[in-house]
Amino acid sequence: MKKTVLVSGGAGFIGSHVTVELLEAGYDVVVADNFSNCDRTCYEGVKQITGREDLPLEVMDFCDAVAVKALFAKYPIDAVIHFAAYKAVGESVAQPLKYYKNNLTSFLNVLEAAQEQGGCNVLFSSSATVYGEPDSVPVTEATPRKPATSPYGNTKTMCEDILRDAVKASEGKLKGILLRYFNPIGAHPSALIGELPRGVPNNLVPFITQTAIGKRECLSIFGNDYPTPDGTCLRDYIDIVDLAKAHVFAVTRMLEGKMKQACEVFNVGTGRPVSVLELVNAFEKVNGLKLNYKFAPRRPGDVTAIWADPSLANTEMGWKATRTVEETLKAAWAWEKHLAGK
Ligand code: UFG
Repeated sequence: MKKTVLVSGGAGFIGSHVTVELLEAGYDVVVADNFSNCDRTCYEGVKQITGREDLPLEVMDFCDAVAVKALFAKYPIDAVIHFAAYKAVGESVAQPLKYYKNNLTSFLNVLEAAQEQGGCNVLFSSSATVYGEPDSVPVTEATPRKPATSPYGNTKTMCEDILRDAVKASEGKLKGILLRYFNPIGAHPSALIGELPRGVPNNLVPFITQTAIGKRECLSIFGNDYPTPDGTCLRDYIDIVDLAKAHVFAVTRMLEGKMKQACEVFNVGTGRPVSVLELVNAFEKVNGLKLNYKFAPRRPGDVTAIWADPSLANTEMGWKATRTVEETLKAAWAWEKHLAGK
C-alpha cells in the first residue's frame, strides 16, 4: 500500500520541491497551504513536472485547529512534513508576536491532531539558525544550540523542543525527525518551480538573480571585513533538489522503522563553506554575465561563518548532497529567466 505524506506549506519553495521528490519516490502526497506567502505557481509546476493533475490540495490555515483535525480525519496520513511558517528574519524582529503565534500554533495543532489520531511520523523543518554564531565550524548535531538572533530563529528552537517533548511523552506513538537546513538555493532543473520571494528578497541568491535580470539595480554584499579569507561571510549553500531528497530519505527511515531514537536530528548541508563573493563570482562565471554589485556595511544579526558537518545524514540516512554550486546557480538563473518569460 502506498503511504501518504502530508506536506504543510507544500506550495512554497521547499515544500514544492519536496512534493516532487516524494511523488517521484512513489509516495502519495497531500499538499496543504494557505497561500499567505506564495501563489499557485509552484503547485501548478509540481503537477506539470510529475504529471499528477490529481495532486490533492487543501487550502487551509494550520492555525485553525478544527481544520487541521478535519484534514487528519479526511486522509490516511502516515507522515507529516511541516513547513507552514513565516520565515522573514527581519519581519520577525519587528513583529515577534505574529511569528510566535503563527509558527508555534500551527505546529502545536499538527502535533495535537497527530496525537489524536493515535500517533504519526513528524518531520520538522528546522534551521542552522539554532546554532547561532558557533564557537567552531563545521557544526555537528551535537554542537550546542545558541540563543537565536531573531524571533524567527527562536520559533525553530522552540518547535524542536516541542517535538522532542511530545515524542518523549507519546510512548512510541509519535516519532520525530528534525532536519536542520543550511542555506537552500537553486531551483528544479525543469525551471518550473523555484523561489518566489514577495517584494525585495532578503536572501542572497534571489537578490543575485533579480539583479542579473534587471529587477534590482545593484546587489549589496553585506560586509567585506569579516575574519574570513576574502572578508565576506561563509555559508553552506545546499541545492534545493538535494535538500528535497533528504526529506524522502528521512520519511522512508521513519516509515520503515529504521530510526535509532524516537526523535532524531540531522544537519542537511554540503559540508562545503562558500563565501558571498565566491558565490557571486561563480554565478557570473557559470552564466556568462557580469553582476552589478557593491560592498556595503554588515547586516545586523549575520553570523560570520557557518557550515555543516553532514556526516550523520550521510552515514545514517544514506543521503548526500550531489550537486555543485555551479549546477545550482545555473538552475537558479534558468528559473529567474523562466519567470521573466525569457
Ligand atoms: N547577503 C548579502 N546581500 C544580500 C543578501 C544576503 O551580502 O542582499 C549575504 C548575507 O549577509 C549572508 C549571506 O549573503 O552573509 C547569506 O544570506 P541569506 O540571507 O541568503 O541567508 P542567511 O544565512 O542569512 O539566512 C539563512 C536562512 C534563514 C535563517 C538564517 C539564520 O535563509 O532562513 O540563515 O542563520 F534564518
